[in-house]
Amino acid sequence: MARFAGQRALVTGGAAGIGLATARALAAEGARLALLDIDAARLEAAAAELHAAGAEALPILGSVAGPEPVAEAFARIDARWGGLDILVNNAGVIGKRAALDLTDEDWARVMRINLDGVFFCAREAGRRMVAQGSGAIVNLGSIYSLVAAPERLAYCASKAAVAAMTKVLAIEWAAHGVRVNAVAPGYVETDLIGAAVRAGELDTAPLVRRTPVGRLARPEEIARAILFLLDPANAYVTGHVLAVDGGWTAYGYV
Ligand SMILES: NC(=O)c1ccc[n+]([C@@H]2O[C@H](COP(=O)([O-])OP(=O)(O)OC[C@H]3O[C@@H](n4cnc5c(N)ncnc54)[C@H](O)[C@@H]3O)[C@@H](O)[C@H]2O)c1
Repeated sequence: MARFAGQRALVTGGAAGIGLATARALAAEGARLALLDIDAARLEAAAAELHAAGAEALPILGSVAGPEPVAEAFARIDARWGGLDILVNNAGVIGKRAALDLTDEDWARVMRINLDGVFFCAREAGRRMVAQGSGAIVNLGSIYSLVAAPERLAYCASKAAVAAMTKVLAIEWAAHGVRVNAVAPGYVETDLIGAAVRAGELDTAPLVRRTPVGRLARPEEIARAILFLLDPANAYVTGHVLAVDGGWTAYGYV
């Protein structure tokens, strides 16, 4: 029996990168997949791919960055499936600028998507999951939920707050059968990183040297950790932030 057979899952930012790898992995284990993303072309391609692989896929064009579009997305899921069992709060953006140069707009953009978006989606999912007495949520944190990097004030603050939100929601909803966990990936080979490299904002060579495992992560490796946290067999795991970072946050030497 597939681990997630028939389960109704929403992956935000599911059209690319870690989100798409997670959607593929969930679909391969029997889940039905709703994808909420702002990239129309990639969204359609992702849904077509999942459908061709035999999964039920519901592409929803929209943003996590506001309560109204999120409520509309959940209404679409309700209309199709009558509820939700799994939420992967994955949509996120980065921003690189020294703290003293950070504009209100820079700050607001990262916070709106990375933090407010996680709250809006978790609140909609929690209402449904608490009412039905079951559900699992995984939020995308980062190594920067746990440690710091210069010129990434908004990103680090947003991801640290996601870790805190994960724990609060976990303890509020545990008695209702709803688990809330987070993964904290190191650097992963996705377009998020590729775009920063192309923009001259990131050099992966020192990052690889800084990583004990000696390479960046593949999106599928993060997806596997997400599925572990979502797996109903791991019912005693909640409120946990799981580093999937090749040893990055363990490393404290020269
Ligand atoms: N790639 C990494 O190295 C890395 C490391 C740690 C954590 N993360 C986190 O993992 C998550 C996914 O990262 P990724 O590398 O796969 O990114 P990505 O840029 O490859 O994909 C992100 C997806 O989210 C979508 N998206 C962006 N803004 C959105 C919005 N407002 N509403 C809905 N969808 C939106 C994009 O269109 C895209 O399809 C993010 O939260 C990121 O912070 C990534």
